Amino acid sequence: MKRVLVAGGAGFIGSHMCDKLLLRKDVSKLVVVDNLWTGRAENLAHIKDPRLHFVRSDVETLQTSDTFDEIYHFASPASPPWYMKEPKRTISANLLGAFRLLDLLKKGGRFCFTSSSEVYGDPLVSPQPESYKGQVDCTGPRSSYDESKRCTESLLFELQRTQGLDVRVVRPFNCYGPRTRPDDGRAVSNFITQALTGRSITVFGDGLQSRSWGYVDDITEGFARYFWMNETDYRGPLNVGNDREISVLDVAKYVSSLMGGVPIVFKPSPPQDPTNRRPDLTNAKYVMPEWSCKVSYEEGVAKTLDWFRAELKPRAPKASAIGARSPRQRKPMQLSGFSSL
Ligand SMILES: NC(=O)c1ccc[n+]([C@@H]2O[C@H](COP(=O)([O-])OP(=O)(O)OC[C@H]3O[C@@H](n4cnc5c(N)ncnc54)[C@H](O)[C@@H]3O)[C@@H](O)[C@H]2O)c1
Repeated sequence: MKRVLVAGGAGFIGSHMCDKLLLRKDVSKLVVVDNLWTGRAENLAHIKDPRLHFVRSDVETLQTSDTFDEIYHFASPASPPWYMKEPKRTISANLLGAFRLLDLLKKGGRFCFTSSSEVYGDPLVSPQPESYKGQVDCTGPRSSYDESKRCTESLLFELQRTQGLDVRVVRPFNCYGPRTRPDDGRAVSNFITQALTGRSITVFGDGLQSRSWGYVDDITEGFARYFWMNETDYRGPLNVGNDREISVLDVAKYVSSLMGGVPIVFKPSPPQDPTNRRPDLTNAKYVMPEWSCKVSYEEGVAKTLDWFRAELKPRAPKASAIGARSPRQRKPMQLSGFSSL
């Protein structure tokens, strides 16, 4: 039986991974550590499984005498307005978080980390294979995120090389879906919340910048297959994403059309917003040939819209099962909201 720790498990992706982990019969205990910075206790409130234990703490200073067979490090904001506002905290979550979590890994245990396609920066090749070294600015406004992902990868791959650590690193491309915060600040959720609250849809720049949008069920299915696979000779970081590239403007137009023609307005681009992003999935197809993204973006955006519609419906505040402040008590963070992220 496995004791498992998920850092950042109350976040968007982490909470979906907790659902998947609890389907496994060989998991005896699932500890989630999360400081609820960008995560929400509501993301886990539906889980009644007694194997789940929630600890509200910064991952870097987690106090426990437990050790774990599998550790999943998801603890980092993924949305640029959030990480650009608190760069030191972002670097700490990724890198110092990894240091602390490595202390808690049992000998022979597996360490799984969500890096990011942001390690490629504003790429000069498309699609981006894992071998592409990236075009990243270590003094730029996105560097706290990009460089802390890169440095955490270095830490883990060097421990793999020197100590044989069992490491699994994924580089997710843009992921969207239910349980994204309404004030997350990235394109799909921004467009949907703007449209549902009677505002115009804001596109930053000309909207021709492209992204590869992966629906959360497809992306977490890819993670689970790779993270849980015992027989593989693949040792490097793995791109996980949808390789259908769509412009930000096309997503805005699609959301607008679903909501009866909400107006679209344009604002200046945020600094160093990548012009394109598309995964080369050759390695993913080699490692897990049976996996692919099955949910089209049209279907995924429509499902996400339905979820937000229910989420944004006014309702009486109720205390959460794991101690979060109710939506009415929570002070919304003032974010500038970047549409193409
Ligand atoms: N969503 C995407 O498109 C995407 C793309 C590439 C990589 N990723 C990576 O996947 C992971 C999960 O992303 P997400 O979209 O679910 O983001 P998220 O912001 O929803 O989740 C991150 C979680 O980590 C928690 N957290 C942050 N710092 C912490 C700390 N110091 N201690 C404890 N908890 C902390 C947050 O409260 C939150 O619950 C992140 O590492 C992110 O960088 C996400």
